[in-house]
Amino acid sequence: MDSGKDYGLDPLYVAKKDVEEAISATRSDEKLTSLGKRKGLRLDNILENKVEIDGDYLRVSSKYDTSDYSRDIVSLVRAMESVRQFSITPYPNSKLEISYSGDEAYNLRFSDSKSNRLFSMHISKYSQYSGNMDKISLYTTMEKEFASRPGYAKEFYSLISKEVVMDGLEKTYANLVVENEEDDDDDEGGEHTLEEILENFGLTVYSGNTSINNIGGYHDVKSRVEREIFTPFIHGDMIKELRELTRLDKKNDTSGAIFYGPPGTGKTMMARAIAHDNDVNFIYMSISKIYSHWYGASSKRMEMALDLVNTYAKKNGKTVLFIDEIDSLGNRQSNYSGESNKVINSLLTRLSGVKSAENSDLMFIACTNLLDQIDQALLSRFKTRIYFRAPNKDDRRSIIATYAKTLNSEEMERFAAKTEGLTGRDIEAIASIAEENHIFDIAGAKMPLTAPDISDYIKAAELFTSSAKEANAKSSGLYS
Ligand SMILES: Nc1ncnc2c1ncn2[C@@H]1O[C@H](COP(=O)(O)OP(=O)(O)OP(=O)(O)O)[C@@H](O)[C@H]1O
Ligand SMILES: [Mg+2]
Repeated sequence: MDSGKDYGLDPLYVAKKDVEEAISATRSDEKLTSLGKRKGLRLDNILENKVEIDGDYLRVSSKYDTSDYSRDIVSLVRAMESVRQFSITPYPNSKLEISYSGDEAYNLRFSDSKSNRLFSMHISKYSQYSGNMDKISLYTTMEKEFASRPGYAKEFYSLISKEVVMDGLEKTYANLVVENEEDDDDDEGGEHTLEEILENFGLTVYSGNTSINNIGGYHDVKSRVEREIFTPFIHGDMIKELRELTRLDKKNDTSGAIFYGPPGTGKTMMARAIAHDNDVNFIYMSISKIYSHWYGASSKRMEMALDLVNTYAKKNGKTVLFIDEIDSLGNRQSNYSGESNKVINSLLTRLSGVKSAENSDLMFIACTNLLDQIDQALLSRFKTRIYFRAPNKDDRRSIIATYAKTLNSEEMERFAAKTEGLTGRDIEAIASIAEENHIFDIAGAKMPLTAPDISDYIKAAELFTSSAKEANAKSSGLYS
């Protein structure tokens, strides 16, 4: 019998038939479909599947409807984009390696345990989604060399449509990132560090050397942050031991803190400075960034981001995750979107995870200008609440001492009197205005470099307050 060996047929044509068969088998596989549904991966949501021969290539394009449940696909594509190089084990003794090759293209290499290449292929233009990400298309291209080996194309396509791959990718990507980072020996380029991956998720790992000495005033606030937040975090083990000694119920309660108060009062600066001084890593997360870029997949993205942060802390030791603008998540009681609720729930779950000491190297500090707009359940997780007031006169004098250190104390006093009602951010802006004007003057007159004097600072403060008033008048005129 001459099974399948149709010598007259182009091997690519055979591969095309194979792939079509593999895809339809996946779609009608009930077990796979129901598994997929449970995970939100709806295999029945494939809108279109085209298998085409294009010269020496076999091309497959699939369009998925992701408007409903298939968010995992979107996240997966994003995860692939972030990770860029990883490998999984879809079958025992096998390895599927995927690496980014630049130009939005991926190389795939599938091998057995002896590292024999079974096949490799190229995924190009791997994704395309409309703004709201309700549809995504995946394009793959397989070179003739591999497509024409009997059974290879079929094997591959049934493999990538299988839940096991999706599942494996999602579960392991965070760990793989770390493994890949350490695995420098077969460096093929295109690898991203964990920091870069976090960046991709809208998170920034801050370095730099803002120290507590750069913060003017707020002595009471500084010492509360040190004593109530950082000391228990840094000495977590000691606290635990102590509680074993003293308490009947020894549950851990160092889950997080919240900073609140008007804009520009140094909330972010304080967290960064104290983390820096205590040798604690500092990761900054902006909630609105997660939203604006990832609306519709935000909760999944939040979970992935938090997983990555967890991984980061496990690898790099004590880490603070600073969650800015937490009020923009809204309140589940008010009429925010379902997506918002889901994000809040993801956050709550992870916060409880940390609280149960799953990773005692991670601490959350949330930040807001509007404490009363935060979901109650979420707020209750942040036991320590620290208010950042608008600076009083003493605070302002100390802030001035950090930005205009050449002034004498009587001059600082005068400057402070001129900045009633302003914040640290405003004072910094005034100092910059004074410096710029001063440079303009001395550069014009070709004079040697000197520091601005008190009159320069007073002038700048007046300029700042009058233009701020003008801006206020304009905007209130706009709305009245
Ligand atoms: N006490 C201070 N001493 C010195 N500089 C300060 C102080 N407070 C604020 N600043 C300056 O103002 C800038 C803005 O402060 P920061 O970003 O920490 O404010 P914030 O409270 O986080 O504001 P927002 O609520 O708008 O995020 C700081 O980067 C710093 O340069
Ligand atoms: Mg801030």
